[in-house]
Order: sequence, then structure tokens, then C-alpha cells
Amino acid sequence: MLVLGIETSCDETGIALFQSGKGLIAESLHSQIGLHAPYGGVVPELASRDHISRILPLVKSTLTAADLDLTDLDAVAYTAGPGLLGALLVGATFGRTLAYSLGIPAVAIHHMEAHLLAPLMGDASEEAQPDFPFVALLVSGGHTQLVRVDAIGAYTILGESIDDAAGEAFDKTAKILGLEYPGGPNIARWALKGRAGRFSFPRPMLDRPGCDFSFSGLKTHALTTIRKLEPLDDQDKADIAYAFEEAVVETLFAKCSRAMSETGARDLILAGGVAANQRLRSRMKDLAKPPTNVSVHYPPPQLCTDNGGMIAWAGYLRLRGGEFAPLEINTRARWPISDLTSEVGSPL
Ligand code: KG4
Ligand code: ZN
Repeated sequence: MLVLGIETSCDETGIALFQSGKGLIAESLHSQIGLHAPYGGVVPELASRDHISRILPLVKSTLTAADLDLTDLDAVAYTAGPGLLGALLVGATFGRTLAYSLGIPAVAIHHMEAHLLAPLMGDASEEAQPDFPFVALLVSGGHTQLVRVDAIGAYTILGESIDDAAGEAFDKTAKILGLEYPGGPNIARWALKGRAGRFSFPRPMLDRPGCDFSFSGLKTHALTTIRKLEPLDDQDKADIAYAFEEAVVETLFAKCSRAMSETGARDLILAGGVAANQRLRSRMKDLAKPPTNVSVHYPPPQLCTDNGGMIAWAGYLRLRGGEFAPLEINTRARWPISDLTSEVGSPL
């Protein structure tokens, strides 16, 4: 089965081909980072327009790279939400129309489910695959959630951010520090030159039970710290980046640790853009040690941030389960992952 994946939920046009038995055979990605950088964040209208102009050339070049044609496709999977409504509509309309004109099924994909399923792809041996139930930490620019996964499609939210997502906090703090968008990778780069112990940022919500997060206070703490120091030199910036990153990583680590002991699950998956953070990855290695002994799984770095490959893969899994989208083109800007039996896709 050959599935075309289309991702347009935010600022990346991602196109990919997944073939059963072979895996991802071709991928193309156009990032709008340069387009939005002057504004310090994603401008929804610019994002939609750019998706419109990129999507067809990308589909063509992806098919050409795999030496395939539109008529070789067996299905189309597209991101139906959550995300920017205008951007979602571009991919959904294009994907749904293409599938209809080719007489093949279309599958509406939940963006966060695709992030969550990405680590299950690839040539990992059976032992390396997580066992159900497992826990997923979804950390992106729009979401920070801990989810218990009982089966593909059966998700329970254990906790989530009550305000900013972790990636959003990275982006906002980077902006305050005068670093370019997207802030996550830039803060991580500056933090490498930062010194431990100069600043101590709060660890939000750690003193409260449960698995919810709160990251908006960190941005305020960064602002207060900067105001006291201004004008900042490069070492100040690096030290603040270090302390901020440390606070986010320690908070995510502590809540993951709590989720693992509360659920008794043995496997943890990290997905979403912030899961590319190297400091987070090295800290999570401590979960593999006694007493937790948890196996931690990641998608390959190119599948951590938004991409078409994870959409094609999620589409393949859903089609294998006998699912395809109804004829209407529905998208949802807000869509809890625990509510997959919605009007966007047909029930599992
Ligand atoms: O999953 P993603 O590509 O898009 C969304 O669905 O939001 O995640 C993007 C987010 C941005 O906030 C970006 O700053 C953050 O992931 N990010 C990182 C790193 N790479 C991307 N945050 C921290 N460290 C990184 N290395
Ligand atoms: Zn994403």
C-alpha cells in the first residue's frame, strides 16, 4: 500500500510517501521559518498562502524522487487538526480532492496522534518497540501533554499545560532574549555556552500533585532577570538560556517520572519539536536507571518536528484498521487527542 502524507497544520508544508514493507520512500519539507522570522512568530494568513503555493510542486517532486506517479497512490492522509484553521484547510482540501479525483481513500489525521505514533515507525526490532500501555510526552509549539496510550486510537490525557506549551515558552523566551524564531533550537545552542548555577529558574507545578504543567511563568521570570541585568552581554544571554532550558527539562523530567510511576507503564515515548532537545534527551536517560527502569523511545530527529512522513505513517496505520475519512472536508483548530471519534474522521 502506498500512502501520500500531507502536513500543513502550521508553518511547514510536509509531503511524504509511505509504502508498506518499505517504510518512508520519499519526503519533502518546506519550512516557512524565513517567512515568519521577521514577525517573531507564525502569521496565520501568510502560512495558508504559502502552503497553497508549495503543496503541488512538493507533491510532484516527492513522487518524482521515488520514480512514481499519482496513479500509483493507494491513499492520501492529511492533517485535519489541531492547528491553524486556514493552514489545515489547504492540506485537507487538496488531499481530499486529490483522493476523490483518483478514486482512492482519504484519511483525516490528528496531528498530535501522528507525533505520538512516529516513534513506532522504522526498522526497530520488536523488542525495541514500546509495549501497550505506554506513556507519551507530546511536547511541541502548541502542546505539552502526557498521554497514556492503551492501544492505537485509545488515548487518555494524564496531564497537560494549563497555559503555554513548552515549545511556546522556548519561542517566547528566545524572543525576549533577542534570539531568532524558532526559539527552541536557538536557546539550546546558546545554552551550550551557559554556566550552571548563576541563575535559578522556578520549577513550575512540581509542588502540586498530578501531571499538569505551567510554563508561562518561566517567560516572566526570564523577563524580570533580563530587566535587572540590561544591557545583556553574550555570557548573560547564554547563562539565562542555560537556566531556562534547565528549568523546562527538569520539569518535564519530573512529570514524566511521576506519570510512569502512576501508570506502571514500562515504556515512554517522546515526540514533538521539543523532543529534539539534546539536554532533555540526555536527562531522560536517567529514567532508564533503577528504580524506574523505563525504556525511552524517540522518533529520528527529522520526524520530531512537523513533517509529512508521520502523517503518511499514521494514515497507513488507520487504513490498515479499515478507516477512511467521510466526504466532507472537516478540520478542527482545537481537537483533544482523547476525542478521536469526531466528525473529522470516522469512528475507530
Ligand atoms: O512539533 P513542532 O515542529 O510543531 C508544532 O506542532 O508545534 O514543534 C515546534 C516547536 C517550536 O516551539 C520549537 O521552538 C521547538 O519545537 N523546538 C525545540 C527544539 N527544536 C524545536 N525546543 C527545544 N529544543 C530544540 N532543540
Ligand atoms: Zn507538531
